[in-house]
Amino acid sequence: MALAVPDTGADPAAALPDPGEKAAVVQSMFDRIAPRYDRLNAVLTFRLDRAWRRATIDEAEIRPGDRVLDVACGTGDLVELARARGARVTGIDFAAGMLQVAGRRGSRGRVVRGDALALPLADAATDAITCAFALRNFVAIPPFFAEAARVLRDGGRLAVLEVAEPQSALLRAGHRLYFHHAVPVVGRLLSDRSAYAYLPASTAYLPPPEELADMLRAVGFTDVRRRTFGLGAAQLVSARRAPRTGARP
Ligand SMILES: C[S@@+](CC[C@H](N)C(=O)[O-])C[C@H]1O[C@@H](n2cnc3c(N)ncnc32)[C@H](O)[C@@H]1O
Repeated sequence: MALAVPDTGADPAAALPDPGEKAAVVQSMFDRIAPRYDRLNAVLTFRLDRAWRRATIDEAEIRPGDRVLDVACGTGDLVELARARGARVTGIDFAAGMLQVAGRRGSRGRVVRGDALALPLADAATDAITCAFALRNFVAIPPFFAEAARVLRDGGRLAVLEVAEPQSALLRAGHRLYFHHAVPVVGRLLSDRSAYAYLPASTAYLPPPEELADMLRAVGFTDVRRRTFGLGAAQLVSARRAPRTGARP
């Protein structure tokens, strides 16, 4: 059975799945849109996402030889960018359709199927973790941060790229017009109606920046930083794994 988020109509909240069905709905949605995902991404972000992704790799302080985990890797953009820095990268995602595209794009053997909330890695097994445009798709954010803290070595860096809402009222109004009205139309025409109604509606899952920072500190991260791109339409949140022993990294 194909799972889909309900049609939006005029109410954005109607585009969100029931909490108990979120994981299955999200997985099935990304399986469905995988073949057109990269094209839509480029169109909807005017290709600005490329610079944001490079900034994510910089923020994760990836160096040649580092073990890097890209969580919710999708079609493998960050996997390939981290590889280009000489890192040993593993991408993980629960949507087989997205992983198939990643494989065709050159990441075969470097991407595995798995759940961001139960990472198949030993404690302290990785030097850096990246994650792009996936936070709001998780059933809950704290379990992902807890897993990231578990598998990162002391001093390792987590860099999370996500959508955001501009601060200023004027920019926010323009952004709403684009993200909440134009994006669903373009998405419907070029890909999938319910998926691209879900995309803007899913920003409702994102907590305010201070709350996100508190969640990170609560599970063992320090040095939490946040910057924005695209006039506030995207945010990059990063943090360092605090030493487990109390020694400085
Ligand atoms: C918007 S896409 C982002 C893909 C990629 N990171 C990018 O930047 O293009 C969100 C991805 O998160 C994945 N995802 C959502 N929840 C997940 C979970 N619990 N475990 C693994 N992957 C998940 C989806 O399958 C999808 O590929």
